[in-house]
Amino acid sequence: MKISIALTKGRVEKQFLQYVKTRGFEVGPLIDKGRKLLVETDEFICIFVKGVDVATYVEYGICDIGIVGEDILAEDQPDVFDLMPLPFGKCRFALCGKPESIRHNRKRRIATKYPHVTQRFFREKGESVDIVKLEGSVELAPIVGLADAIVDIVETGNTLRENGLVVIENIQPITSRLIANRSALKLKKDAIQPFIQKLQGEEILK
Ligand code: PRP
Repeated sequence: MKISIALTKGRVEKQFLQYVKTRGFEVGPLIDKGRKLLVETDEFICIFVKGVDVATYVEYGICDIGIVGEDILAEDQPDVFDLMPLPFGKCRFALCGKPESIRHNRKRRIATKYPHVTQRFFREKGESVDIVKLEGSVELAPIVGLADAIVDIVETGNTLRENGLVVIENIQPITSRLIANRSALKLKKDAIQPFIQKLQGEEILK
């Protein structure tokens, strides 16, 4: 029985394929897929989708497992089983802004692609903020005065530096994660368990 995998297109896809290759899986057809969105090998059926859609394919049972950033899981909180962290895609959520914005004395407006994460963060701090949802280039918001600060992903810190912003507070570390459809974990256990064992080198499913 083949395992179906939903894979985040782009950088995570390349890192995952390199990772599984080092674990002894045959990934040639997945690396040489061109513009195909669904590729079948002797072991896998693999689909290539945007990160925000990975958990949807897994939650609906189209794919048994998925590889997705923890940022997306934290924001969308899909009904999937979070199996394990993967050793790539490491970055962090942080509150960032102009150096002079660290001190503030009024209700702040926060721009972010992650409104739920931002809401939870400020609720736990007991601070009321206005949240502006953006889809990208979030670092621009404090520069042009759309927001007082941002909650975003920081990986190398280059985007912050090049736009004159600093980390005001780290929120949480993030990594890529292996998720699974809850039913598939039981129904396709005989296929999924050896796959995870080969990835991990130890038994994790009972
Ligand atoms: C992400 C994130 C930051 C940047 C952080 O953006 O939203 O802008 O990467 O990486 P760094 O610390 O290594 O500079 P992405 O590249 O996904 O583009 P976006 O602005 O369109 O969201």
